[in-house]
Amino acid sequence: MTIKIEKLPAALGARVTGIDLGQPVGAADLAAITRAWLDHIVLIFPGQDITQDQQLAFAGYFGDTGARARKVDDRPEGSELHEGIMLITNDKDGDGNYVGSLPDGEMFFHHDMCYVPEPHKATMLYGIAIPSAGGDTKFANMYRAYDLIPDALKDRLRGRTAIQTYNYHPTEIPDADGDMTDIHHLSQPIFVTNPDSGGTALYVNRLMTARIDGMAKDESDAILEQLFEIIEDPENVLQHKWTPGDIVMWDNRCSCHARTDFAPGERRYMRRCTVQGGPMVAAA
Ligand code: OGA
Ligand code: MN
Repeated sequence: MTIKIEKLPAALGARVTGIDLGQPVGAADLAAITRAWLDHIVLIFPGQDITQDQQLAFAGYFGDTGARARKVDDRPEGSELHEGIMLITNDKDGDGNYVGSLPDGEMFFHHDMCYVPEPHKATMLYGIAIPSAGGDTKFANMYRAYDLIPDALKDRLRGRTAIQTYNYHPTEIPDADGDMTDIHHLSQPIFVTNPDSGGTALYVNRLMTARIDGMAKDESDAILEQLFEIIEDPENVLQHKWTPGDIVMWDNRCSCHARTDFAPGERRYMRRCTVQGGPMVAAA
């Protein structure tokens, strides 16, 4: 098989064919995939058929596989799965309880784990059962979003941080003025450098960014809304319509992602793992 990498007709993303991710990846193919990932941010590998262990082995080429934020006892999946695997599914057990995370519906744009000191640099999602309509994953190019911020606003935001939060609700942001004791929250730079590519990216999103530090709520909300409009502009977004067998791997340092709504009666089943990253690097 010969690996083939095709850029998609969107602001980010490439399709990678001619490789079986269930097999060990040779050095030349790994170099080509790594280069393509840095260049295109999101890679789509269609037609894959792999086990949990094979998925983790492939993710392991890019770094240590990431641990889950939720403690084992709090996870809907229980402890049966491999520690590094999360299920994204609306399947239910015999008692009618969901067996996976993020089961149903829309999810606003977000960066995975931006509310912890060392976020996962990559997320790898393997689509196994897909609804007939909806449940697409959208990806925004955060290098391009950074470039499109008007200069005056860039100057105002340079060197600043914002509070990133998450309460496990897919379309609701916690109130930064409320009690945050039990909610993940952490200040992160607004402009970050991806140490692997050298590029500068915008690092805020609609679901998790609660407040620009040191600004009043109204001013912060207005600026964040302006940034979200740049991020979420369809010109800046790849909307991926899933086919069973797709593996999608994205870079959380220079993209954010969202999910479109879908009918709750339709089955969606995906297997997810991550690659551990380091601390976010503030842009110079
Ligand atoms: C995720 C995520 C979106 C989806 O796995 O981090 O945001 O389409 N998934 O299920
Ligand atoms: Mn996510």
